[in-house]
Amino acid sequence: MRIYLDNAATTPLLPEVIERMNHVLTNTYGNPSSLHAEGRNARATIEEARKTVANAIGASIGEIFFTSGGTESNNMALKCSVRDLGVQRIISSPIEHHCVLHSLERLQKNMNVEVKLLPVNKFGRVDLTVLQEWLAESDKKTLVSLMHSNNEIGTMIDIDAVADICQQHNAYFHSDTVQTVGYYPIDVSHEKISFITGSAHKFHGPKGIGFIYINNENIVRPFVDGGSQERNMRGGTENIVGIAGLAKALQYSIDHLEAHKNQISNLKTYFKEKLKMEFPGVEFMGDDEGLNHYKVLNVSFPPSPKASLLLLSLDIAGISASGGSACSSGAEAGSHVLTALDVAPDRKNIRFSFSHLNNKNEIDQVIEKLRPILTQELVN
Ligand SMILES: Cc1ncc(COP(=O)(O)O)c(C=O)c1O
Repeated sequence: MRIYLDNAATTPLLPEVIERMNHVLTNTYGNPSSLHAEGRNARATIEEARKTVANAIGASIGEIFFTSGGTESNNMALKCSVRDLGVQRIISSPIEHHCVLHSLERLQKNMNVEVKLLPVNKFGRVDLTVLQEWLAESDKKTLVSLMHSNNEIGTMIDIDAVADICQQHNAYFHSDTVQTVGYYPIDVSHEKISFITGSAHKFHGPKGIGFIYINNENIVRPFVDGGSQERNMRGGTENIVGIAGLAKALQYSIDHLEAHKNQISNLKTYFKEKLKMEFPGVEFMGDDEGLNHYKVLNVSFPPSPKASLLLLSLDIAGISASGGSACSSGAEAGSHVLTALDVAPDRKNIRFSFSHLNNKNEIDQVIEKLRPILTQELVN
């Protein structure tokens, strides 16, 4: 049996979600735009799902739009802000997901948007004092785009604190919440957040389906031109099966949030302690003293010939994780996140990310497999 510890990349579908999707796939074949019974049935499935998502984050149903996933939703937030809300300046960070960073590059190049990236420290914490300073020093209409949790190291922002700062300075606020929807309570009714985004495959739903929350004070125009689907915002016949699967997975995650959080946090602590005991020289990336996602453990192994093949060795041993190292000049493109944190390029980083489907026995097995791969070099 393989051990899957790459749950920040994607998560396995839950049986409950598969069952729901099978049901919709089999029974709900109408086009939601059709007026007949089959169409109305499909429409009802979508609107029921929209209500589930809206309730989960404290939004109203008119503020939720289904998309193809996190990438599209983040593109939409950034590009619609510039096109429709008069945003001339975007403040973000160098450790955002590529779908944000590459969108920012395009906006800078094609739309002349001023892009400023906040300094981050070695824990991945963005400097909120600098954010305040930058917001105070310009009258340009500004959007702040900061991810709720970093996908590589798990460092989180205090989303309420950032929302408050943005509100004080009359700036729009977009948070890429792709790693936190379904894992942390998010309540947009409490804080002034302009856009948040979600992706079903990060919380045990299907791939290729996500959503964007757009605060209803922000009037933005269609992102995909076509039919009048998604209240004109995104043309194209809806992915009904995906939407139903997303809603089922989200509801399941919210219903089990505390139990899963405790279980996964315990697993992470257990793994950390074992790694520290067994392998001297390992370090942990992220913000353990501050806010850090409980599902992500980014481990930095000291340089050694074997460590450089660590990810491959783990895969051969039946363990799936993600790897990365900081970019060194001339070498193949490494992790932009680790590079921004000034991690030495010769250290080997492995991101282990957990779900409630993992258990301690699996962690013990990973330690067993790591021992022969690593011990000699680290002890010498
Ligand atoms: C933080 C973050 N944002 C955005 C995305 C993109 O989401 P999707 O795969 O749904 O396009 C990911 C997925 O890797 C992510 O981790």
